[in-house]
Amino acid sequence: MGDKKSSLSNLACGLVFFLISALPCFGDVSYSVPEEMKRGSIIGNIAKDIGVDVTSLSARKARLDTDGGHRRFCDINLNSGDFIVSERIDREELCGEKASCPLKYELVLEDPLELHRITLQIQDINDNPPTFARELIKLEIQESAVKGARFPLDEAHDADIGQNAVQSYTLQRNDHFVLAVHTNTDGGKYGELVLERELDREEQKELTLLLTANDGGTPQRSGTVVVHIAVLDANDNIPVFSQAVYEVSLPENPPLGSVVVAVSATDADEGANGEVTYDFSRISDKTKKVFSINHKTGEIRISGTIDFEEESVYEMRIEGKDGAGLASHTKVIIEITDMNDNSPVIHLKSLKNPITESAIPGTEVGIINVQDKDSGENRQVRCSIQQNVPFKLVPSIKNYYSLVTTSELDRELVSDYNITITATDEGSPPLSSSKTVQLSVSDVNDNPPLFDEQSYSAYVTENNKPGTSVISVRARDPDWRQNGTVFYSLLSSEVSGVPVSSFLSINGDTGVIHSVWSFDYEQFRNFKVQVVARDNGSPPLSSNVTVSVFITDENDNSPQILYPAPTGNSLMTEIVPKAAHAGSLVSKVIAVDADSGQNAWLSYAIVKSTDPGLFTIAVHSGEIRAQRDISESDSQKQNLVISVKDNGKPALTSSCSVYLLISDNLAEVPELKDMHYEENNSKLTSYLIIALVSVSTFFLTFIILIVTIRFCSRRKPRLLFDSAVAIPSAYFPAEVDATGTLRSSYNYDTYLTTGSRTSDFKFVRSFNDMTLPTDQTLRKPNEITDTKDSAEDGFKCATLLDPKQVN
Ligand SMILES: *[C@@H]1O[C@H](CO)[C@@H](O)[C@H](O)[C@H]1NC(C)=O
Ligand SMILES: *[C@@H]1O[C@H](CO)[C@@H](O)[C@H](O)[C@H]1NC(C)=O
Ligand SMILES: *[C@@H]1O[C@H](CO)[C@@H](O)[C@H](O)[C@H]1NC(C)=O
Repeated sequence: MGDKKSSLSNLACGLVFFLISALPCFGDVSYSVPEEMKRGSIIGNIAKDIGVDVTSLSARKARLDTDGGHRRFCDINLNSGDFIVSERIDREELCGEKASCPLKYELVLEDPLELHRITLQIQDINDNPPTFARELIKLEIQESAVKGARFPLDEAHDADIGQNAVQSYTLQRNDHFVLAVHTNTDGGKYGELVLERELDREEQKELTLLLTANDGGTPQRSGTVVVHIAVLDANDNIPVFSQAVYEVSLPENPPLGSVVVAVSATDADEGANGEVTYDFSRISDKTKKVFSINHKTGEIRISGTIDFEEESVYEMRIEGKDGAGLASHTKVIIEITDMNDNSPVIHLKSLKNPITESAIPGTEVGIINVQDKDSGENRQVRCSIQQNVPFKLVPSIKNYYSLVTTSELDRELVSDYNITITATDEGSPPLSSSKTVQLSVSDVNDNPPLFDEQSYSAYVTENNKPGTSVISVRARDPDWRQNGTVFYSLLSSEVSGVPVSSFLSINGDTGVIHSVWSFDYEQFRNFKVQVVARDNGSPPLSSNVTVSVFITDENDNSPQILYPAPTGNSLMTEIVPKAAHAGSLVSKVIAVDADSGQNAWLSYAIVKSTDPGLFTIAVHSGEIRAQRDISESDSQKQNLVISVKDNGKPALTSSCSVYLLISDNLAEVPELKDMHYEENNSKLTSYLIIALVSVSTFFLTFIILIVTIRFCSRRKPRLLFDSAVAIPSAYFPAEVDATGTLRSSYNYDTYLTTGSRTSDFKFVRSFNDMTLPTDQTLRKPNEITDTKDSAEDGFKCATLLDPKQVN
């Protein structure tokens, strides 16, 4: 190789030499040699060129001096006269960029001294590649750079000159840039990047391009450099939300602080341009109270109470903004789902309170409305009522229920109901609530008063004091207030033609029955009266009960001697035959006792006799018999005083005289008239008096009768005729209470005897007409006054006789 190279150099030298030799040389000798020749390479033959004999060179002490004191690089071979390279010659080192690079030598020959100037022109070879000053060219280009923008690149340097210097650049193929090459004022060439397609940092953050610089030498050399382009961000991207609308469903009553949703937006830009912050952009005040947003993370949290019943959908717009202020928006819709957090509420819309007990089953009592604020299943409410009441709930339209009765009501059994209504919704877990409705049952007069007993018996001892209480009846009525208030009254009826109200009165309030009459057992022994208990309802209900009044006997009647006539004014005399034997019946005392029982059990006894021992009387029959045979010696007139005693306690006694005449012929008894005469005188007086009284009485009575007939036509006086004799009633003023029931009265029993032998034991009892009949019980006070007046009228014309004159 070395040989080949040197031959090549020789060829070149030969050519240069030929050129120099051909040209007139102003110096002495001029050579040209490429740089970097091998040491020892022959540049030329100086001896020949200057015309000096080679052999004399040594003798003439030929030597080569440098002109200018540079290094030698070349030398002369004294033996051959060749100009040879003695050192490496680097043109770039010697001359740099200078276009010509001559080395100047002087050849000095002695003897004679000759001086030849030798110029060695060093020629460039392409021994240096282009190089860049830096290994890496860093460029920062805004992504916003427009098309056509130019970015000059570093120039590459080549130590060689001329054609061997940098001649061209090439740029690695790429999408964005092309290369433009320019020439400097100093002739250097440099490249420029021209933006042909715009950059997008978000697409490509950096580019690395290889730039190659080429020189023009042969062989060509090149140098490369890496161009690193960093694409600088421009805020050319807006934040982009991951969703255009965020729809979230959230159960109500979420815990405070919990995250509902996190919105997120990305910004392709870098750094602050890509940092997105979040905020509400359009939000209602209400929504703002319950949600908060984390500006950095975009998390939306609960910051208030969320009640489905208040608001079921929340909507908000959220803005995502990058550092440079570019913003975009998204929408968040939060739908609240219902939880069963509201108990049903029972409203009593109407209530018929009280409800009448006569309400038929199925009567609507009240209307109930049930509401539940929740929705869906949670809103479905079932209503129920407790079991043990006669009511039920009937579902009606929507959430309305009717409370109706299921059976008949009876206030007297249950007067109040506490109806508990329970409403339960169908949520899970279900919620329920209840309400108690107080309902009272109002009364209807559906119960008549009921007497405690089926019938009553009252016992009254005769000769009772008027006003004494006889019996107390009681009736109960379970109805309410006036419907249960019982009033008693006597049902108007008559006992032996006399209104029963004359005998009894009843305290309307207490049911205590009083006698207003002094009863006489001998008059009647019992009677019945109907007591009516009536309530105060309207219409009133009533019931009645029979009160049997039994009058019990008292020994108030002395034995009444019927025969012989008791008063002794009788002339009745029994004739006893003289031949009457012992035991023969002489006479019989007949007595009765108006009392009964023991009180009427009579016993007879002789208390006085003319001849004791002649007659006896049977204790019970009253038969008078001869005890022994009548003898002549016995007195013709026999007088017996008989006492008749009843068995009452105390016993009452009556007595009579029995006249016996022992005779066979009535005419035989002359003294008898005498005996009677005396008596007749006194009797006659009595008769006269009685007759007079009777006549005047009858006259008076007649007048009174005429007067009273008028009354009778209007108001029939009640007369009790026990016997043939009628005596008008005696009228007594009496106090009448408001109900017209006689409270107290003074009844004077008026007895009248005729004194007649033919009418024995007759009496007339006067009745007090003031005892009003029951049908008048409701007379008003002024009417009562009228009655009083007429009663007084009656009193004026009444005949008042001393009571108890019978005996
Ligand atoms: C109904 O409730 C009231 C008050 O709570 C109570 O006084 C009354 O006795 C209850 N009535 C019934 C019938 O339970
Ligand atoms: C008594 O009953 C009647 C219906 O018979 C009724 O209208 C009235 O309200 C009741 N009186 C009272 C005090 O309950
Ligand atoms: C008395 O009650 C009976 C039934 O108890 C009834 O048949 C009768 O009519 C009632 N009498 C009067 C006068 O009210």
